[in-house]
Amino acid sequence: MAVARYLLSGSKKCATIIGIELMIVNVNGNVYATQKSCTHAQTDLSEGNLEGCIIECPLHGAMFDVTDGRVMSLPAITPLKTYPAKIENGVIMVDIPSPEESK
Ligand code: FES
Repeated sequence: MAVARYLLSGSKKCATIIGIELMIVNVNGNVYATQKSCTHAQTDLSEGNLEGCIIECPLHGAMFDVTDGRVMSLPAITPLKTYPAKIENGVIMVDIPSPEESK
């Protein structure tokens, strides 16, 4: 879906795959994909500050671990959806479940 060399360690990008808005993050050479919007009030998390594997929502400051979606700080209480991601032959691959699989 994207060329990995353009996503440096410690950086993040947005992508939309089959209508799902994602935030793709590189943490120490490993890539992770989460939903793009904060679970508190739907703000774009990719505008937030990334420290290691923790993204801070730019609106109210909730924090999430991008490696597994866990909430690390209020006011959000719902974890982020995460999607399996990897780098294969220099390309970032994200596994999005088909609509039937996600039911
Ligand atoms: S919208 Fe993210 S913490 Fe409120």
